[in-house]
Amino acid sequence: MTLDATLSRIDADLPAALDRLMALLRIPSISTDPAFAADVDRAADWLVADLQGMGVAAEKHPTPGHPMVVGHVEGDGPHVLFYGHYDVQPVDPLDLWHRDPFDPAIEETPRGRVIRGRGTADDKGQLMTFLEACRAWQAVHGQMPCRITFFFEGEEESGSPSLLPYLEAHKDRLKADLALICDTGLFESRAPAIITQLRGLLGEEITLTGPDKDLHSGMYGGAAINPIRVLTRILGNLHDDQGRIQVPQFYDGVPEVAPEIRAQWEALKFDAAGFLGDVDLSHPAGEQDRSALEMIWSRPTAEINGIVGGYTGDGFKTVLPSRASAKVSFRLVGTQDPLAIRENFRAWVTAQLPEDVTATFSGHGASPAGQMATDHPAFEQARRALGAEWGVEAAFTGCGGSIPVAGYFKSVLGMDSLLVGWGKDDDQIHSPNEKYDLDSFHKGIRSWARILDAIR
Ligand code: BES
Ligand code: ZN
Repeated sequence: MTLDATLSRIDADLPAALDRLMALLRIPSISTDPAFAADVDRAADWLVADLQGMGVAAEKHPTPGHPMVVGHVEGDGPHVLFYGHYDVQPVDPLDLWHRDPFDPAIEETPRGRVIRGRGTADDKGQLMTFLEACRAWQAVHGQMPCRITFFFEGEEESGSPSLLPYLEAHKDRLKADLALICDTGLFESRAPAIITQLRGLLGEEITLTGPDKDLHSGMYGGAAINPIRVLTRILGNLHDDQGRIQVPQFYDGVPEVAPEIRAQWEALKFDAAGFLGDVDLSHPAGEQDRSALEMIWSRPTAEINGIVGGYTGDGFKTVLPSRASAKVSFRLVGTQDPLAIRENFRAWVTAQLPEDVTATFSGHGASPAGQMATDHPAFEQARRALGAEWGVEAAFTGCGGSIPVAGYFKSVLGMDSLLVGWGKDDDQIHSPNEKYDLDSFHKGIRSWARILDAIR
């Protein structure tokens, strides 16, 4: 049987594939919010049933958090593991959505037809592109293209707390020749992208405490230290006026991009003005001596993701707050050591505290950057397969986001990963009105059929 037969089957089955995706999207599997734990569980059950329907031996495995879904199917040739996550981000602020995030629908837009709803692009729509390719292959050939392990996580959007212990405890169950990960996007929303490097991520929460209770700012103001003032001064010192991060030893392990990679990136002719223009910006705001592409792919960052303190409700209150806190995250590259940076950051904050102010810290995940094994034969095979589907040469690109599982697959299972995905820059992942283009879904399924055909 030819690849064409599988591709035709995919085309013919697209309406049914969309119905299946819609059913999964209707389950509000928000992993960070305990109120949705039963729904996360239900999404895992849905996937188990779907895999079983394809003849895959699949089970839901409990963890201290949300369950893992693992399925196996035998076949000839290499053994691949496919990873995706079935949990989604919270939907707030709900009033900015123009439809119920868990009542997905196909919408016509000026840029084409899209599937609207939470989790469409990150990551249920992407995860289903692989399942649908396998389903079509199975229907045409009566068997799978190769031996496949399916591995779906329900905690990715909340930092994967159960992942590492699970991998360590189930090495035999999960080890394959190569991992396939579908949780990234196209280059400039048009060219297939094979990810060669991912940034790591370190999360820190700081709380500064001054007076032991909130005070009247008329009675105490001037004499009492204000922790918001201290916090904003310290956070204001995070970058210098050229955008360099000021935490000591922060740049240890940050490499320069190798000349051949730099040449590849330059050949991509990244449209920085268009990329920023799409979100109403014009000026790359990172280190001023770096290109916008370097800023997002190969340079580390320090970002303040949230800051609270004092009175933020309606009207006005002349309060002098007892506490102020902020969530800060660092995107990491090269061999930057997340735990060393955590320690240096805490010491750097503590050294700037005035009399009477104390700091407490809590960590939120720490994963190093990842470098993919681009000399693995699957990279070139996938590149050719993807070029044929999209009619544009596939690009080897960096990824500014973090997908810690790829690093764990290497360090715990000794398994390389091939990361590809069909998302577009305007999918609004993690935001209101998330969408996934119908053509991302359709061509994504076809892309997996081509990749499986090329690597088996
Ligand atoms: N799908 C994203 C990763 C991603 C982001 C890929 C942007 C391509 C572009 C993934 O679900 C995600 O959001 N990861 C988190 C990290 C996690 C440890 C919370 C991230 O990058 O913030
Ligand atoms: Zn994701």
